[in-house]
This record gives sequence, C-alpha cells and structure tokens, in this order.
Amino acid sequence: MTESLPAHVLVLFGATGDLAARKLFPGLYRLAEAGRLPHDYVIIGSGRHSPGTDDEFRQQVRDGLDDTVGDELDSDAVDDFLGRISFQTADADDGADLAAKVREAEEAFDHEGADTSDVRRLLYLSLPPAAMQPMIAMLDRESLTDRARMVIEKPFGLDLESSRELDAAIKDVVDEDQVYRIDHFLGKEAVQNILALRFANGLFEPAWNATSIESVQIDVPETLAMEGRGSFYESTGCLRDMVSTHLCQLLGFVAFEDPDNLDEKCVRDAKATLFEAIRPLDHGRVVFGQYDGYRDEEDVADDSEVETFVAMEVFIDNDRWRDVPFYLRTGKALAASRRTITLRFRTPHTTVLRGAEPLANELVLELTDDPRITIDVRAKLPGPTMDLTGASFRLDLGDDVPDGEPLEAYERLLLDVLNGERTFFTRSDEVDRLWQVIQPLLDDPPEVLPYEQGSWGPQAAVDLVAHGWRLGGDA
Ligand code: BG6
Repeated sequence: MTESLPAHVLVLFGATGDLAARKLFPGLYRLAEAGRLPHDYVIIGSGRHSPGTDDEFRQQVRDGLDDTVGDELDSDAVDDFLGRISFQTADADDGADLAAKVREAEEAFDHEGADTSDVRRLLYLSLPPAAMQPMIAMLDRESLTDRARMVIEKPFGLDLESSRELDAAIKDVVDEDQVYRIDHFLGKEAVQNILALRFANGLFEPAWNATSIESVQIDVPETLAMEGRGSFYESTGCLRDMVSTHLCQLLGFVAFEDPDNLDEKCVRDAKATLFEAIRPLDHGRVVFGQYDGYRDEEDVADDSEVETFVAMEVFIDNDRWRDVPFYLRTGKALAASRRTITLRFRTPHTTVLRGAEPLANELVLELTDDPRITIDVRAKLPGPTMDLTGASFRLDLGDDVPDGEPLEAYERLLLDVLNGERTFFTRSDEVDRLWQVIQPLLDDPPEVLPYEQGSWGPQAAVDLVAHGWRLGGDA
C-alpha cells in the first residue's frame, strides 16, 4: 500500500463498458496487487443502467479480470479488490444517489484522525462525446467536483467548435490542474522510451533532424475491425479516433524540441509548440478508406461514408524538420497489428562505395509492450569484393532488461492521476491546435476509398510514400 496517498473514492462512469472491463479494472487491480493504491480506497462504478446487484457487478468485474489478468490473479488480492467495488446508477439529470454514495464512502474512511475533507475523488469519464458535457454539469450541481481529479477520455468533442464548448464547460467547473485528458498511447512504455532514446543518447540526438533524416513513418495498422463498436465509429471515424489523438501524440514525442526536463509544463509546452508548427494539410495528400463489409457491421448505416482508414503526409515548418515528410497511417481490418515508427536516414554523399544500395538506414521503433528497436545498416558483404549488404542491430528491451517492471498504459496513467502527475496527459491548447489542423478534413472530407479486409488499405495510400512503407512488404 502507498501510505503517502490520501484516501480515495474512485468513480468510474462507463463502468460496464468495454474499456472498463479490458483496461481500467485490470489496471486498477494490478496497481492494487502491487501495493500502489492508497491504503483507503473504494471504487464506485456508475452508468445509466444497473448491471444488477453489487455482487452481480463484482462478478462481471471478476470475469473481466479472468479474461485479462488470467492466471496471474492473486486470490487474496482479488478478493480485497472486489470487496471495495460497488455500483450506483446515475445520469446527467439525476446524480443525487451517486453523490450520497460518494459521501457515505468518504465518511466510512473517517478514522484515525483522518477527516472527509482529506479524501480525494477521482472521477473517470469514459463517455461518448455527447454525454460528456451534461455529465460534467451534473457533477458540478452535486458538488462532486470538489477535491476531485477528473479524467476525460477522448475524443474531446467531435470538431473544433464542440471541443471548445467542452473545454469551456470543463473549465467552468474545475481548474485546469484538476483535469487529466487521457491519451493512453502516452502511457505506453515504448512511447515513453522514445524520449529516453532521443534525449539520452549521443548517437541519436545530433542526427534527429532534417540534415540526417529523410522521412518518418508513424504506422499503426490494426487487424481488429468493429468488434461491436459500430455505433461509436459511426459518430467518430478513424481520423478522430486515432489520428488527431494517438498518432499526433506520437508525432509530438518523435518531433518536439528538447523539453529541458520532464515536468508537465516543459513537455506539454514542447508538444504544443510542435503542433503549432504543423503545416496546413495538403488535401491531395490525405487518403481516407473504408473496408469492404463495414456497412454490414452492426449499428452502421448502409450508405455510411465514415472512414475506417487514414493515411496522410504531414510537414512540420520549423528548422529541425523543414520539408521532411511525416507519413501517418492507421486503419481497421488491415493486414497486421503493429505500432511502428520508422526514421529513414539520408544516404551519405560519398562515392567510395557505389553500386547497389541494399537497405537504407532505418531506425525502427516497435511500440509493443516490450519495446523493440531495430537499426538497419549497410555493411560489407564478407568476401573478396567491396559489395554491400544489409544487416540489422536489434534491441529487445524485454529480453535485454529482464528486471524491468513494465506497467500497462492505463495502469501507468491511473497511477499518475493518483499521484497528480500530468506530464503524460494532454493540455487543452494541444487538443485545440490538433482540431484546428484536422478541421479542414472534417469540413471537406476526401473521398472514402474502399479497401479489402486484410490489405494495407487503398492503393492510393500505398502510393503515398514514394520509396514505400516500411510495413507491408515483408517487414
Ligand atoms: C483506442 C481506439 O483509443 O485505441 C481504438 O479507440 C484502438 O479504436 C485502440 O483500437 C488501440 O489501442 P492499443 O493500445 O490496443 O494499441
């Protein structure tokens, strides 16, 4: 147990949803099992519809833990964890019962000199965009925002205007330092490792610019299709779900200037400055796609024009990156599930070794749970001639640093919220700027091109990168 953390009441809105079952409860369980949660805490699940009695809700949570944590569940830890969980229905019009339940839980902590005004609230809002504002208004009416940290799941609005309205509504009821806009990609070990790689290595830091780097690919294909999320996708689409959020945040970490230190202000300032420098997108260099069969998915319109795939070229107008193309690609029902960042280096201006060029130098970051890094180099083909061949350095952090204790992204970010750490959360000016960047595509979307399931998207997207995507060949 973490003695230094005050007692907490955690309220999860959307507690019977997919995210709660797959990520939030498993993340909280792992923190509990590792003794990283406060000594005193309870979790109140909430939503519009009751999942049944508290015991039935606990059983649902338990089933989710069996599916996700599985054999690693510790029976004492899981019993203790489930014993702290209950459910209370609430909606934007009526939160009185929930508020009463929160206060009751706080009073129950009232022992050993602690008093309820020391109890902190963590309000986790995993809700569709349309439900967000009314729910925030309810939390304010019921005074649940006092002593609270509020975690907001993306998408933050549906366009520039609605995101500004949401932001104003949030700031109306809480201070910015109570707000945690979550983008779980920033909680991934491998994503945070980009910072270590860039700023702690003399090998890379001096080469991290347009003089050395020819292009960058940020490629997040997914084999996953809708999996019952048709209605969410119909109102969101791939551009909002993945690109203006996860992929742009990756772009931020890959491209921003040295933030000097890792405190929240420096990191978010550096990211915000980078996002300011994004050149207006060239409409002709953005490809939207929709996989064949998407319109037959549950809750999807027969004539839906929603994109399930996006590829685009992005430029950053600053001295470091001028005219270096950044290619972003992601989509559902594609040929592979990967999260791969590839920095392609320029070929040196030398005439010493002419002839065939086997493999350009590429630094490839695989953002898996165990980060993997590959560097493709050219080397001499052993033998009597000076012919070149391609070879690779590989680093597998999971194997090479076996005593590491990686945390899953949500687990890490939930811990950060408990500790009041906001470095890996996004700030409203970043979010606003990214909406500004993509708004022209919302106003005038590119034609949505069909693609086969299990492919690499429409041909136009494959052709977007003149020298080819790293993924999609045999990589
Ligand atoms: C979520 C998106 O935020 O991220 C999903 O809503 C996507 O559509 C998911 O599949 C990908 O996250 P991860 O961590 O599984 O790569």
